[in-house]
Amino acid sequence: MTTASTALHHASAVLADEADWRRALAGARPYPVDDRRVSDIFLLAHGAFAPLTGFLGRAATESVLETMHLPDGQPWSIPVLFPLFQPAAPGDKLALTGSDNQPLAVMEVTETFELAADRFNENVYGTTENKHPGAKLVAEGPSQYAAGAVLARPGWRPPGGAEGYPITPTETRALFAARGWQRVTAFQTRNPIHRAHEFCVKTALETSDGVLIHPLVGETKSDDIPADVRLRCYETLLREYFPADRALLALYPAWMRYAGPREAIFHALIRRNYGCTHFIVGRDHAGVAGYYGPFDAQKIFSRFAPGELGIEPIFFDTVFYCRRCAGMASNRSCPHPAADHVTLSGSQVRDMLRAGQLPPPEFSRPEVARILIEAMRP
Ligand code: ADX
Repeated sequence: MTTASTALHHASAVLADEADWRRALAGARPYPVDDRRVSDIFLLAHGAFAPLTGFLGRAATESVLETMHLPDGQPWSIPVLFPLFQPAAPGDKLALTGSDNQPLAVMEVTETFELAADRFNENVYGTTENKHPGAKLVAEGPSQYAAGAVLARPGWRPPGGAEGYPITPTETRALFAARGWQRVTAFQTRNPIHRAHEFCVKTALETSDGVLIHPLVGETKSDDIPADVRLRCYETLLREYFPADRALLALYPAWMRYAGPREAIFHALIRRNYGCTHFIVGRDHAGVAGYYGPFDAQKIFSRFAPGELGIEPIFFDTVFYCRRCAGMASNRSCPHPAADHVTLSGSQVRDMLRAGQLPPPEFSRPEVARILIEAMRP
């Protein structure tokens, strides 16, 4: 069995102190990057994207697109790329700066290459349509990319990285060790946690030492609930409905790709790096607008050998409240017809919350819904 202590983890590429940082920065040319790149730089530097230590070059990108493996055979499902919004050439030393114009990391460009947006989008997103929020970003971005390892300045947090929460693999691993957790299940989410999500997490908790509630707090599409509001929801839910010593809330400061199956593998590998042994994959994981089948993000795991990913997926069928069962259940465990199930679409829930109406308690905990109603008040 994989345990928290034996799963793959790489040393971080964050410089030890300001003196080291100033030396690394010498001779680097300022190069502004957008928030998505700032997020990638943070995750690369802190080992969250291990075995990646930098933005991928052409050979590795092709290999990941074609085979979902790096050239050395290790599994990886989504190329982490550095699009050249401004020119750069091999040999350039770039001081990458975020929105406040402060340099965050140094990257020495080892290679530049061209990649057609359609080729990336077909492989990663399964579509080249601009209606897909991930494919659109690639299609509208540059087709030239740079490769290079990153060395980060110590002590900064990426966009969405609210203070006071663990955010790096080193931090979560230390907390798991301190709590004596061996079997740790991670839960990825970009939404407020409703009863169906809670059921998945609690079911996993029955056979885990602890759960990592690991919300994505980087950029999402504009109609997703902002991370600061969600954090208030997670805090409240954990306080009211989870044992404090068995659930840990930490930040996953990545941006959402909406790549469905490929992103489920990506999410799992990253949670392995954060020290988890198990990873929840439910219905339409990381999906958007019906682009993927509801269980495509589960089926893709069968393309990897047993144990290859270093983390075990835990699959859930569609979860709902069933009036006849008088409890949460799923299509796997409940024999009753859909008419007995309490299900609401995302837009139905949004309309209710906007109108100041609490969704049924079978759908959402009232403590959580009240925070959402308050946040949606004009
Ligand atoms: S996601 O983009 O992060 O996947 P979301 O936060 O809604 O979106 O989902 C988090 C996790 O819960 C995913 O693994 C998803 O598949 C699962 N999930 C969400 N709703 C349900 C449901 N009703 N039944 C089963 N699994 C669900």
